[in-house]
Amino acid sequence: PEQFEFVVVANRLPVDRVVDPDGTTQWRTSPGGLVTAMEAVMRVSDGAWVGWAGQPGDAPAPFDEDEIHLVPVPLSAEEVRDYYEGFCNDTIWPIYHDVIVSATFRRTWWSTYERVNRRFAEATAAVAAPGATIWVQDYQLQLVPAMLRELRPDLRIGWFNHIPFPAVELFAQLPWRGHILRGLLGADFLGFQRADDAANFRRSAARLAGVEVEGEVLSLGEPDGRRVRAAAVPISVDSRQLDQMARSESVQRRAAEIRHSLGDPECLILGVDRLDYTKGIRHRLKAYGELLAGGEVAPPRTTFVQIATPSRERVEAYRNLREQVEGKVGRLNGDHSPIGTTAIHYIHRSHPRQDMAALFLAADVMLVTPLRDGMNLVAKEYVACQVDEGGALVLSEFTGAAEELGDAYLCNPHDIEGLKQTILQAITDDPEEKRRRMRALREAVVENDVHTWSRTFLQALEHAPEPPPAGDE
Ligand code: G6P
Repeated sequence: PEQFEFVVVANRLPVDRVVDPDGTTQWRTSPGGLVTAMEAVMRVSDGAWVGWAGQPGDAPAPFDEDEIHLVPVPLSAEEVRDYYEGFCNDTIWPIYHDVIVSATFRRTWWSTYERVNRRFAEATAAVAAPGATIWVQDYQLQLVPAMLRELRPDLRIGWFNHIPFPAVELFAQLPWRGHILRGLLGADFLGFQRADDAANFRRSAARLAGVEVEGEVLSLGEPDGRRVRAAAVPISVDSRQLDQMARSESVQRRAAEIRHSLGDPECLILGVDRLDYTKGIRHRLKAYGELLAGGEVAPPRTTFVQIATPSRERVEAYRNLREQVEGKVGRLNGDHSPIGTTAIHYIHRSHPRQDMAALFLAADVMLVTPLRDGMNLVAKEYVACQVDEGGALVLSEFTGAAEELGDAYLCNPHDIEGLKQTILQAITDDPEEKRRRMRALREAVVENDVHTWSRTFLQALEHAPEPPPAGDE
């Protein structure tokens, strides 16, 4: 196969293969923040992207899409169940998100996780040029760094965790914790969303893998003797592209249409999430429901649109969540919608980027209320689209984004009373105060956009285990 100097390896490719009932196949943008960010990076880099095409069965041959070279990795139906739905999203995902739902431990899932990680490592080794830079992504591929190093000691290997890294007390529950740590320590540089995530990782490695830690550097014992750096490199969005999109005539027109179709409300409130229990959708609905019941918000003057993108629908916790959310929306609409209008517009579909930009532009208040979130790029996308410096962002303290976006209306989503007050404050605050906050948020998102993020990560990888020289960062 063709070889590349730069290879990104992620569980998912940026596009999913969708087979229609008539047997024709289509390619559709994959869900989630990882793809949003990495696609922007790859559009301006030369390189290959190794990943799964989102369907069980044989992998299509490598192909180019939007000038990105894609190398599909196959997963069987059983591997989708045990590796992707099982170990990734029913073991690791809940543990790394502070056990919002309990985690399931199954030994057969673990052995499939190992087998699939090896396949990704081999596929990557096959397309990597001598001395190439490899950027491994996220919790699905934590064994790939060490497996790849064994196959190809010539490579420079980095790993970035898009989700939180838990406290050692939680991580220690994992029966395979030592294997996971050793898998990750095969990298030269490990990047995390927040300084706390990097610190959690270093603490786990010290306590559970006997690694010596000094500052951000971990020293592996003999015979290896390598040193690995683990530090925070917070991810971001393509703020320039979003800004331009939001200024375009078509998106401006679409935003006006959306407001009009909703009855030109005085206040349009928006939530946009993958339908995931980490996102705090139920807490948000509870708070909003109480505001409706108390008459503090009233349709059609105030309208709430909740977009919930379908996600991991065969995992039980996700199915339960969907039922709870849809039951709650149904009850609230039944109780509070006047004839001819709807209190909460609930949409369980994904939308093209242009439409999302229009919605962001149209919304007066954006609710981002996760119980735990590595970063939350929706918050940054919303900010990047507020080209008129209007709009107000309600943001959970438990997101990585809150570290940089301290000028948002911060909230603790577990505190329903506090959440209600914060939502009301975001609706009714003085427009000058809102503008001051939005201006500060926009500065933060412009200063650290996705290209700054990838440059920072790749420089850290190049210089690891030392930090890059000052001025280089
Ligand atoms: C998060 C994860 C990504 C994942 C995305 C969508 O952003 O960090 O790795 O791709 O969710 O989830 P899915 O399971 O559909 O890939």
